[in-house]
Amino acid sequence: MANRYITTPVYYVNARPHIGHAYTTVMADILARYFKAKGEDVFFLTGTDEHGAKNAQAAERVKKTPKQYVNELASEFRIAWQGLNIDYSQFIRTSDPKHEKVVVDFVQKLKNAGFVDKRRYSGLYCIACERYLTPKELESGLCPDHKTKPVLQTEENYFFALSRFQEKLIRTIERDELLITPATRRNEVLGKLRAGLEDVSISRANVVWGIPFPNDPSQTIYVWVDALINYYSATEMYDSLGGWAEHPADIHLIGKDILWFHAVIWPAMLLALKLPLPKTIATHGFFTIGGEKMSKTRGNVLDPLELVEKYGVDTIRYALVSAFPFGTDGDFSEEIIKQKYESELANELGNLLQRVLVMMKKYNLCSLAKKWQGAKRNKVSSKSRKELLAVGEDIEKYRFDLALSAIWDIVRQGNEAIERAKPWELAKNNKAKLEDVISNEYERLLLIARLIKPFMPATSSAMEEQLQSCVPEPLFPKIDG
Ligand code: MSP
Repeated sequence: MANRYITTPVYYVNARPHIGHAYTTVMADILARYFKAKGEDVFFLTGTDEHGAKNAQAAERVKKTPKQYVNELASEFRIAWQGLNIDYSQFIRTSDPKHEKVVVDFVQKLKNAGFVDKRRYSGLYCIACERYLTPKELESGLCPDHKTKPVLQTEENYFFALSRFQEKLIRTIERDELLITPATRRNEVLGKLRAGLEDVSISRANVVWGIPFPNDPSQTIYVWVDALINYYSATEMYDSLGGWAEHPADIHLIGKDILWFHAVIWPAMLLALKLPLPKTIATHGFFTIGGEKMSKTRGNVLDPLELVEKYGVDTIRYALVSAFPFGTDGDFSEEIIKQKYESELANELGNLLQRVLVMMKKYNLCSLAKKWQGAKRNKVSSKSRKELLAVGEDIEKYRFDLALSAIWDIVRQGNEAIERAKPWELAKNNKAKLEDVISNEYERLLLIARLIKPFMPATSSAMEEQLQSCVPEPLFPKIDG
């Protein structure tokens, strides 16, 4: 039975997967791989959010039925995650009838527990956000995120009594029983919660592409309610996850744009059913592309698979995670990828491996590899242990960028140690010292391979193979163009 349950958001299928989705998913994969390597039984859930007006409109634009369209797009997400070497446990789709059934039951239970009633409501709805905006949130009458004009909608809807959970949520978040990290985001949520909490509409009268509301097929369940329940329905659908009541999610990894839904609406839905809350909501920042918001109209949407094809999967994983600190906003671009490929990956890591293996061959030291494979293979020196622990701690605290820069310090120290020791001179007059230097570098490379494993699994394996076979091959060859 899984003892660590990690999730990404379920992504809308209104467009193909882009590098923003990849950012979250790669980080979740790093966490999952890290905990697996530690011997834990990890369940890593990702998937697609397929109902609602936004997806239905996208289907209409390409003249397909919603079902046909979401099937195609869900496959695109699967293919993208395969290309990025994402080792998820299950891929959940909100159009899966098993999930739909759980959602209906969940909403029925909210009704039974007395948290749902019908009201007439008038508000400004942004389809791109899939939510009502308050007049205060608008900027010059437009949605601040999408710069589009929200539509005035007057409907009779079912409402969830969110406001009843204000005090309880404040207390739970203050005590870190629901840990929202980083702290700036936690404080942001607390500030907003203290300012007041309004009830929220959980059904739509005019959205056909959705799950029918229990006992009222004239309405469909609000797409966000449907989507949030995926984390729970997974625990009903997949045997290797215990039920949510025994083991709720450990980590919901999300972008800052959807924090309110995860930190307030979702926990309130769970509290209403007396279900336990997720343990952590880890919230990362947003990136711009070359200083601009990523958008179709600007034509700066980066396709993860195209980048993987050009630069290799681990380059993209590395570049995404090291570009800026988790939790803050930052910038990303193909330029950044290129630059990281040439300097950190090819010139620093690739070069270190290459020169050590070339010297081992040249100075007849390939026997070192055999020696390590024998006696020392599974032994970690105390210095290595310290480094493994430090990098592990960074990963567990979502400081992925810091973990990588700590690893790259070790890479740089390797290149510097070689410059200082000048093995090519030792080869002439001090064989014992030469063996010592190369042996140290060999050990360092084994450590680096182990440290980068969750971040760059393929590169890590390639390094290990070369270190065993003593046959150097460029890890990051020159790229044309
Ligand atoms: N379907 C909802 C989520 C429901 S979860 C119960 C949704 N989907 S989405 O396709 O719009 O994905 C949003 C998520 O994609 C963000 O929270 C973030 O994880 C990721 N990102 C999208 N664009 C991004 C950037 N420009 N930068 C960083 N992450 C980005 O919202």
